[in-house]
Formats: sequence, C-alpha cells, structure tokens
Amino acid sequence: MNLGCGLVVYWNDAALTRRRLPVRFWPGPFMSIEKAKLLFEKYVTSSELKLHCKEVSTIMKFLAKDFGEDAEKWEICGLLHDLDFDFEKRPAEHGKKTAEILKQNGYPADIVYAILSHNEDNLGVKRKSKMDFALSAADNVSGLIYAYALLRKSIEGIEPAKIRKRMKEKAFAAAVSREKISDIEKAGISLDKFIEVSIKAMQSIAKEIGF
Ligand SMILES: [Fe+2]
Repeated sequence: MNLGCGLVVYWNDAALTRRRLPVRFWPGPFMSIEKAKLLFEKYVTSSELKLHCKEVSTIMKFLAKDFGEDAEKWEICGLLHDLDFDFEKRPAEHGKKTAEILKQNGYPADIVYAILSHNEDNLGVKRKSKMDFALSAADNVSGLIYAYALLRKSIEGIEPAKIRKRMKEKAFAAAVSREKISDIEKAGISLDKFIEVSIKAMQSIAKEIGF
C-alpha cells in the first residue's frame, strides 16, 4: 500500500507484521531493473566498481536469455552482487551487508543466496543453483575478457578460443579465478558456450566500458 511521502506499507504474509520501506527501493511483486538501479546508485560509488557491475549484470542477462532463465532477475543479481564492496573493507565479510540491505528491501531469497555464495571462500555459503554458478563465473570471466580486450585495444572480434588460451596462462590477469569460471559446467552450461555468450555480452556495452 502506497502511503505517499515515499513510504510504502506492506504486510509480511507469515507474521502479519507491518514494515515501512522506501517505496523507491522496495522491489515488491514488481521487482525491476529500474528499482535495482536506484539501490545500486545509492551504494556503489566508485567508477571502476560501477563498470565491473555493469559487465557482470550484462553477462548475467545474456546468459539467462540463452538458457531460458529469468533475464531481469539474473541481471539484477549481477548488478547488485558487489553492493557493499565500496564500504565493506573486510574481504571476509564481503556480501553480508549486501544480503542485509537486499533482505530489508524485499529482494527474493535466491538472489540474496547467489550473492552470498559468490564469496563462498570466506562465507562458506555453497554454490548450488544455476544462478549461483553463473554469478561467480561471470564475476571472474569479465575480468579476463576485459584484460584481454585492453591488451589488444579492442573488444571487437575476440575469439572464445583466445580466452580459453589465456585461461591456461596463470600470470595473465592472475587475480581471476580459472576454477570459478570452469565451475560454470556444474550449472550444466558448457565452458565454450559460456565464454562465447560472455564475450557477446561485453561487446554489447563496448562504449560504456571504454572501448
Ligand atoms: Fe564482483
């Protein structure tokens, strides 16, 4: 129920408790990328992180479309996955504040879980669903593709085989986890297809990411 003055009241099904949330952020039954962007702009301040999140969200959207999943949900998951990165300085805690914010704003449990599981190494939240594996793989492959595109000064015409080759060179974009990229196969998605879709996704936002 919209009470005006930017606040909305809704009832928790289970407890029938009333909670007041800013209507601008609450996704409600009509979760949308537009509302997610408002939350994103509130918490993500650094330009590098903005670009990274844009890349991951676009890869997630393309993947979901290719694999018959909910494209808007996956895009939102990618956009918001590093929501606390600019202010949570403890890597071991990364994701926890994001989860809190998303829960307070009514985001669905599967998005919150995927985001926690992208820091499985520290939080111990195991990746289980397709969306979990896709987020973790997209988080990493975006760095690899970006580094390779920088090297050749263009993101156009990148062949998936070249990215596969760079995956074998440990010194290249060393911070990128090859294991987390390869784990996309645990979601039933072939690594070759994943890389191909990820390249196309990043090419679609070439100008926005500086190419
Ligand atoms: Fe990330």
